Amino acid sequence: MTADVTDLMKKLVSLCKRRGYVFQSGEIYGGLQSSWDYGPLGVELKKNIEASWWNFMVSARRNVVGMDSAIITHPDVWKASGHLKNFHDPMVDCLKCQGRFRQDHIEGDSCPECGGQLTEPRDFGLMFKTQMGALEDDSATVFLRPETCQSIFVNFRNIVTATRQKLPFGIAQIGKAFRNEITARNFVFRSREFEQMEMEFFCLPEEAGKWFEYWLDERMKWYSELGIKSVNLRTRKHEDTELAHYASSCFDIEYSFPFAQEGWGELEGIANRSDFDLKAHMEESGQDLTYLDQINNKKIVPWVIETSGGIGRTLLAVLLDAYREEEVEGRERVVLGLHRSLAPIKAAVLPLSKKLSTSALEIFDLLRPHFPVQFDETGSIGKRYRRMDEAGTPFCITFDFDSLDDKSITIRERDSLDQIRIPVENVVEKLADLMDNGWPAAQ
Ligand code: GAP
Repeated sequence: MTADVTDLMKKLVSLCKRRGYVFQSGEIYGGLQSSWDYGPLGVELKKNIEASWWNFMVSARRNVVGMDSAIITHPDVWKASGHLKNFHDPMVDCLKCQGRFRQDHIEGDSCPECGGQLTEPRDFGLMFKTQMGALEDDSATVFLRPETCQSIFVNFRNIVTATRQKLPFGIAQIGKAFRNEITARNFVFRSREFEQMEMEFFCLPEEAGKWFEYWLDERMKWYSELGIKSVNLRTRKHEDTELAHYASSCFDIEYSFPFAQEGWGELEGIANRSDFDLKAHMEESGQDLTYLDQINNKKIVPWVIETSGGIGRTLLAVLLDAYREEEVEGRERVVLGLHRSLAPIKAAVLPLSKKLSTSALEIFDLLRPHFPVQFDETGSIGKRYRRMDEAGTPFCITFDFDSLDDKSITIRERDSLDQIRIPVENVVEKLADLMDNGWPAAQ
């Protein structure tokens, strides 16, 4: 990693801690490596990303339904899916510094940390194992799911029966997944516990190509709607050698993560999983997971197009994309230029002086039932603006001494620094308008 990249990541990690986006897990005990806790602003940003995904993928569509499955999964699921046999990475150890690495993530045959000699690669299983119930023998072994989609396949028949969906249709899920990654690094980009947003779209085999193209386009659209700059997004076709065991073809949607090898890192995979999973679960369970194609009156095993993204990676891309440093009136400021729909705090109410707090609190109370807003009366007004710029808050509402007489307040916009003065009685309506349509000059 170059010094600039390390510097940028250090600054972002530090901002995330300072403003309450992301904390190292177990920090007071020295920290649990590559495990992250989301703070008050982080959890709101995560929820906004989830809500946007759910709306785009489920609520806005007639033919996609949702589900939420258990994390601890029947072991046979992972036998059928191929994970028990195939879900491992090649691991090498350094004989000199004892570092441990994924062989396919390093170039050359010497240690990337100290140049020492490496061992031959060994397979390292990525699933977290645990035991269910009082027994501690093999019969009690269960797994934390390493991907959310298998529960969708396993519930395929339940969902078709319950919803009477007809092909083509999708089943979507957001939830935690766990992988015992050999090297988890780059902040929330690669962690051992993370959240996925997955959708399995079941279709006729002959239509799989068409739906693959459709979903690749749709998913790119979603990332753009989050406000991520298009120059920082691209799609990349997987080489045959990198295809996962279940995929017959796959494209990644990538972001130009500053730390990524060759400049780009995966945000999401769009895969044609064919009939691999349903067939595998039919074979392992002995249950019929076919679908009755009523038009041709025959039973078929549908093909599946999968869209599989990570919340942590989306959140990191959104933050990196929004982070900027600039000079305003001779002073440096750090801004998170988050899209207003994602911003955890939509507006901050700031009395110019503590003497005005009682009146300003009335405005805060007016807004609170409608928007996530914050009240801040501590420090100079300049400092409070800077805090809100760093937190990504699009609007600041200032109550000054004139406000007492003219019953008006000032709204300041984060990016342009433009200000407008409006009557207090219009504040809820005005903020709703700004949230829907953006700042007038930027329209
Ligand atoms: N069901 C297919 C599947 O799980 P994947 O490419 O292994 O495919 C999908 O994972 C997405 O999940 C990735 O694009 C990434 O966003 C996220 N993801 C995977 N492993 C991750 C990790 N260790 N930490 C954070 N996110 C991860």
